[in-house]
Amino acid sequence: MTDLTNLPRYDAAQTYDWNYAHAPEPVEVDVPAVRGAWDFCGLKVASPLGVAAGPLLNGRWVRYYASLGFDVLTYKTVRSVERACYAMPNLVPVDTSPLAGGQMAGGEASVPAAATMGRTWAVSFGMPSKAPEVWRADVEETRKLLPREKVLVVSVVATEQPGWTIDDMAADYARCAQWAVESGADAVETNFSCPNVCTSDGQLYQQPADAARCAAAVREAIGRTPYVVKVGHIRNAEEAAALTAAIGPFVDGLAMTNSVAAPVRAADGTLLFDGAPRGICGAAILEASLAQTRMVRQVVTQRYLREAVKPAALVGVGGAFSAEDVRRYLVAGAASVHLATAVMVEPGVALAIRAGW
Ligand SMILES: Cc1cc2nc3c(=O)[nH]c(=O)nc-3n(C[C@H](O)[C@H](O)[C@H](O)COP(=O)(O)O)c2cc1C
Repeated sequence: MTDLTNLPRYDAAQTYDWNYAHAPEPVEVDVPAVRGAWDFCGLKVASPLGVAAGPLLNGRWVRYYASLGFDVLTYKTVRSVERACYAMPNLVPVDTSPLAGGQMAGGEASVPAAATMGRTWAVSFGMPSKAPEVWRADVEETRKLLPREKVLVVSVVATEQPGWTIDDMAADYARCAQWAVESGADAVETNFSCPNVCTSDGQLYQQPADAARCAAAVREAIGRTPYVVKVGHIRNAEEAAALTAAIGPFVDGLAMTNSVAAPVRAADGTLLFDGAPRGICGAAILEASLAQTRMVRQVVTQRYLREAVKPAALVGVGGAFSAEDVRRYLVAGAASVHLATAVMVEPGVALAIRAGW
């Protein structure tokens, strides 16, 4: 019988490559059913529970978490070229107790590092990717080995080269998305919460016209395959309206929130990562991500009422650890809830959520 209190997990003291090579085997456990009819961008699923892009480094990690009660499995973001991981540390626990309610609001000048992991950390991987021939073969094998009723999403990102225009970026997104689908992905996610220095030093999701160029190219490349765009922290309803109007025609779903960015301060007062912000992920972004989900739901519903434009399905991401957190996302307007930090620090989390449903 599997010991659920001591399940294998990502080892933050080891490198990304070590963890890639040391994926656990699937386990045999009773997975409690979640009552209700659930849907992920038009695909029937057994629960609203999924793993967000990040914890599933390869197909063996995908199958491990599928065995632990997740129904939608997102393969960690891959690229059209091989890319090494940032130097360690890749995961730095942060202390969010000085923040109001322990929650990130966005715009923090810095957050303090913590000696031990609670439920929130700064994430610094730089979206590493194996070479396309490696991840494409792995996705193909994974789809064959994964139980048919589980949904395999592959997350992709473009890799900008010097002198590239936004159309080059769009073509690179489309190339990766097409490869993912050819390899057997049931759905594609494009990470738009990444820097896009083609046009400015903002992020793609904050540049609606460029985001739409990329989303249109992806849609063209993948036909009717379900397509989700992952976005970061949106500041207000105007930004949400501009983004959803621009990319809405091309996508089936919107996943939010990638993280809330902030620099991280060491105990001696110095800033880690050369003072550059890092994505803060885990429990301390729950309220900000819930608020964003509510706001975007309202924006897309208003547009639906005004113009009869089919609203994108929302994938709630950020800070969920419990059945109550999942319920709150569903009430906020999400159709699915995907977890990253929780699955890494509490690998049996989906079983606990299902048991408490
Ligand atoms: C270790 C780790 C790696 C991540 N890598 C990616 C990634 O490759 N692509 C991506 O879109 N998001 C990535 N994320 C962000 C997660 O998908 C998610 O948006 C974020 O962690 C917030 O969810 P959480 O609070 O449940 O962790 C990563 C997160 C973690 C913790």
